[in-house]
Amino acid sequence: MNIQIINGPNLNLLGRREPGIYGSSSFEDYLTELRARYPQHQIDYFQSNSEGALIDKIHEAGFCCDGIVLNAGAYTHTSVALHDALRAVPAPAVEVHISNVHTREEFRHKSLISAACRGVICGFGLDSYRLAIEALTA
Ligand code: DQA
Repeated sequence: MNIQIINGPNLNLLGRREPGIYGSSSFEDYLTELRARYPQHQIDYFQSNSEGALIDKIHEAGFCCDGIVLNAGAYTHTSVALHDALRAVPAPAVEVHISNVHTREEFRHKSLISAACRGVICGFGLDSYRLAIEALTA
């Protein structure tokens, strides 16, 4: 399968950003492990801090890949436009969060994108991405 991972704002700083919450591994290092674990799948990766670029990537990948793994970062809690983009494409998406957003500030409890996703995985650290791939490829 062809899986597109999309990371939103501030996730380029994984490994350096609040390591007590998000861990000390960079996403690039984790991605190397993930690709080695799933040699049978094509795993593409895109990160942007800009909402429009994330929407453009969903439009592009959403018509040709088999599934999207999306950690929209803080846009999860604010973006009707990302919700609409996910609804506009045929590829199923899994919403992912590294932290358990439900144990954190109340503004993180609400997701505007969950209803446009096949499912949600949160709280398992970087392993949340692997669990999303398992779900998409099952
Ligand atoms: C996050 C949770 C969001 O609330 C936060 O804004 C992030 C990361 C997570 O992976 O736990 O940037 O999506």
